[in-house]
Amino acid sequence: MTLNLTSSGRPAKPAAGVQDSPAGTRKVPDGFVLGVATAAYQIEGARHEDGRADSIWDTFSHTPGAVANGDTGDIACDHYHRYVGDVALMRRLGVQSYRFSTSWARVCPDGRTVNPKGLDFYERLVDSILDAGITPWLTLYHWDLPQALEDRGGWPVRETADRFVDYALAVHDRLGDRVSTWTTLNEPWCSAFVGYTSGEHAPGRQSPSDGLAAAHHLMLGHGQAVAALRERDPALKLGLTLNFTVADPVDPSNPSDVEAARRIDGQMNRIFLDPIFRGEYPADVLEDVRGLGLETHIKDGDLATIATPIDVLGVNYYNGGAFSHLPPQSALNAAPATSRPTRSPFPAADGVHGHPRGLPVTSMDWEVQPEGLTRLLVRLHEEYTGPADTALHVTENGAAFDDEANESGFVQDEDRVSYVRSHLASVLDALDAGVPVQGYFYWSFLDNFEWAWGYAKRFGIVRVDYETQARTPKASALDFARIISTRELPSGGNDV
Ligand code: FCB
Repeated sequence: MTLNLTSSGRPAKPAAGVQDSPAGTRKVPDGFVLGVATAAYQIEGARHEDGRADSIWDTFSHTPGAVANGDTGDIACDHYHRYVGDVALMRRLGVQSYRFSTSWARVCPDGRTVNPKGLDFYERLVDSILDAGITPWLTLYHWDLPQALEDRGGWPVRETADRFVDYALAVHDRLGDRVSTWTTLNEPWCSAFVGYTSGEHAPGRQSPSDGLAAAHHLMLGHGQAVAALRERDPALKLGLTLNFTVADPVDPSNPSDVEAARRIDGQMNRIFLDPIFRGEYPADVLEDVRGLGLETHIKDGDLATIATPIDVLGVNYYNGGAFSHLPPQSALNAAPATSRPTRSPFPAADGVHGHPRGLPVTSMDWEVQPEGLTRLLVRLHEEYTGPADTALHVTENGAAFDDEANESGFVQDEDRVSYVRSHLASVLDALDAGVPVQGYFYWSFLDNFEWAWGYAKRFGIVRVDYETQARTPKASALDFARIISTRELPSGGNDV
């Protein structure tokens, strides 16, 4: 299909339905699902309760210097004990769908034996989500590998993919009758390359070879789990969530900058997209990583397994980047979370430099670049999901800002309001251009444990007071609730 876009990525004609909407607003299609997302380790707490054992994030966060302020997920948002109130709050906000993850270390504490009490929790949670009239969206793996499996080699070892299938089937045994959308992995790029190559995330290794081996086995586990779940129930909606960047050359007329952007696109986006949608690694990426051992892990039949058809691709988008072969004059002030030594997450992109483009930044120092989301969705639809007839959902998009709460805990977060509005507008632009995006989940419902940053960065539309565990919807939550109930997207962020 030819898409109706101008070169700026904006639609060439006004959005459909705009004429019917109040001045300054755009219509959000009725069938478009608006939801919120979280992940188990970031909110649950209850570290050793009801038989849960440690995951790599428990070990990592208890390692001195690994997480800012020495924060851990031991208690986090105490969601394990507070899920009833949390789901009730989602209901009050009118949230249509809730994307959450199950903790492998709660369900299979030693990595192989099923712990029924762990499944009891997710059964209670899913039942409360359904009772609230909210559609559950289940992610099986949001980065929390049981430590017992890391002790046997972790994702760089092939056996971990088999254990993942056992775990997926155990969760399906309990919840298969009431959850219809199942995604295997959240952001395997981060699990593989931030966990095993840069060392900024658990388990904290710094090895390009281990990152590549992990990436292959993560995708293998994904493909095997999709095949096994599909065999159980052909009606399930199955897929995974990938995180993407939109890699632009700083100077498009400079071949070295074009090459720099190609490397980042290859080693972040296409290294997952091509095996999953085309059953092959991109030739240029194989060339980039030659000598780092990836080929030694690819066995006969692996790529066919990885390319098991999926029904849904989740898209996580925070920002894009401009890349050059030259260092920038002034870098983004992206101070690392801790003083622990780390290296680039890209296995073979030494000599590639990210450049700031003068865009506003969030408190993560991530540039705010909503138009990149439109370009990303258009590209995914044209090159991957359209031909495969795979549905597209934005499964994460959101921002951390330096929130200031008043005495009653309320945060007037205009910056987040305008972030959400502008990114939703970008999704509507993609829809207008003919990309059938089906939904958008804000990251995150609650402030939570932001990995290496601990509790220092707040992404929630609901504030969490970590002393009292009080939850207070921010202005952004009220704005999001209004968009859901009116199906009208206001422009800009000034009329909160
Ligand atoms: C994504 C993760 C999510 C959260 C956001 C800010 O990469 O999937 O858990 O940390 O970033």
